[in-house]
Amino acid sequence: MDAYIYLISASYVSQKRFRELSCALLDAAPVESRAVRLDGAGDGLWHALDDLKTAGATRIELRPIGLPFSQSLEKWLPNAASSWLARQGTTAPALYFAHPLQTDHSVIQAAATAKVALKPLSPKPFGEIGNGWDSPPAFRHHLLVCAGPRCHLKDAPNLVDALKNELGRAGQSSDCLVTTTGCLFPCNAGPVIVHYPHGNWYRVESLSEIRTFVSQALCAGTIPDTLLIHQTGDIHEPA
Ligand code: FES
Repeated sequence: MDAYIYLISASYVSQKRFRELSCALLDAAPVESRAVRLDGAGDGLWHALDDLKTAGATRIELRPIGLPFSQSLEKWLPNAASSWLARQGTTAPALYFAHPLQTDHSVIQAAATAKVALKPLSPKPFGEIGNGWDSPPAFRHHLLVCAGPRCHLKDAPNLVDALKNELGRAGQSSDCLVTTTGCLFPCNAGPVIVHYPHGNWYRVESLSEIRTFVSQALCAGTIPDTLLIHQTGDIHEPA
């Protein structure tokens, strides 16, 4: 059985938008397909590969969606998928990575000439100023949780939900601003959480580690050494 996985990279797209795009892609797909969001939220690439393999796929195409598709992801994703392939043994499906759409002239031409609905705009003085964006929120802790593609592959989005649950359970929600971010760079040490104002960087991989992080770093005000990977201001010399 042939199958496709559509790879969507867009951190600032709402879940609703992502669902609409996924549904449209899956409706139009000529073969059994899945849509995967590479950053932000939702199941990652390995889940989709496992799922299609279980469904009987013997040949899977990974098809990047988006114009332009990230050059960094274009380089890294085939390796990440090959890493999944290496764990499959003799029952592995054949796996292919498609050229991103910006290399397809007909797609570029369609985007450049598409007859889309137009919304008329009228003058609106200070239209760029929205309500509620006047001052920083009153939190004691700022937690940057990486939801970049490499941390996403390690289930970082589910960690965000688990972290928020744990903050609520520990009575810390109103003191903590949780911000999901794009890649923070130490991907191989991820999933990464950075705690400001202290500037401590942690690798947090499981529910029990989230509990350790919340109880020690936030409730007790100590540093959970087993999770610490870096402190802002420390210099790392290249090996
Ligand atoms: S994707 Fe999280 S640190 Fe790079």
